[in-house]
Amino acid sequence: MTARFSKIVGTGSCLPGAPVSNDELARRLAERGIETSDSWIVERTGIRQRHLAETGVTSSQLGAEAAREALKAAGLEATDIDLIVVATSTPDWVFPSTACLVQKALGAPGGAAFDVQAVCTGFAYAMSVADSMIRTGAAHRALVIGAEVFSRILDWNDRGTCVLFGDGAGAVVLAASDEPGVLATRLHADGRYENILRTAGHVSGGSITGYPFLTMDGQAVFKLAVSVLDSVARETVEAAGLQLADVDWLIPHQANVRILQATARKLGMEQDKVVVTVDRHANTSAASVPLALDVAVRDGRIRPGHNVLMEGVGGGFTWGAVLARM
Ligand code: UT7
Repeated sequence: MTARFSKIVGTGSCLPGAPVSNDELARRLAERGIETSDSWIVERTGIRQRHLAETGVTSSQLGAEAAREALKAAGLEATDIDLIVVATSTPDWVFPSTACLVQKALGAPGGAAFDVQAVCTGFAYAMSVADSMIRTGAAHRALVIGAEVFSRILDWNDRGTCVLFGDGAGAVVLAASDEPGVLATRLHADGRYENILRTAGHVSGGSITGYPFLTMDGQAVFKLAVSVLDSVARETVEAAGLQLADVDWLIPHQANVRILQATARKLGMEQDKVVVTVDRHANTSAASVPLALDVAVRDGRIRPGHNVLMEGVGGGFTWGAVLARM
């Protein structure tokens, strides 16, 4: 029996509306009496702009548009898809899942569709699940999507968090293949750190219980992120029987350019091997890695045969990585 792998055969992305620059955001926050500046944001995070969804624009809409782009790149129709996995922490509704709403929008009924919730590690979790299902024969062609409207869960009076995030979606088509494909995936979580990054609210009895906005201990997240992005990169490359020198492109979760630079330094990788989009998109949580992947595929940096190491880290605390040959 020939080995069965999953392979990325198309990528796509979607960003809502025009970018909002740091200066424009600072003006909007000043109207609320909140002080920030382009120089603080750029110096501490590398972020220069973000996209913010208009009222009524949802994760499923952004995810469906990214999926259409990925299908077009793969030369496939929505009806060729038998699995949709959406990674999101900002689903349209409590239920049905955002994946079911994407499936409806695409007009591809019948296959499996579900969401995974691993915050900024969501895309790595979703890829790992879809890869496993394809390798076992439970699915043949999957859409794996990261889609977020994080602007909805930001406290716009908290300058320590509201300048950091943006909205958007990225998608890949993952298809069964005789050749590798996804070479290795590794996932982790440590729930003891749930309190350093969370949105600890919910709907109950018709009203919101808890606190429905994102809260974060930025420095604790920063330190843990740099440590686990290093360890999970090494672990995943080793699991694939490769060396770090075999990695053509590193795509860590796009949270902060300082985290990306520190990760590359620890791994001994050249900074120009790291795909950076946090300057343009800010932190789009589960959407950040597939968005960055799509940018680097479309601008011609990532080419067939390249080994791409994608890494997530975020609330949970969760972390994980996917090493894929394109
Ligand atoms: O998806 C994963 C989620 N998040 C992350 O990965 C984020 C990880 N953490 C970080 O990226 C950084 O910790 C931050 C960017 C969040 C913060 O950078 P920092 O260098 O750790 O700054 P800080 O929190 O220590 O704040 C320094 C100062 C404070 O003022 P004082 O106390 O020194 O007077 C803050 O009040 O900067 C102030 N500050 C701001 N000033 C202007 C915080 N936010 C802002 C702001 N504009 N937006």
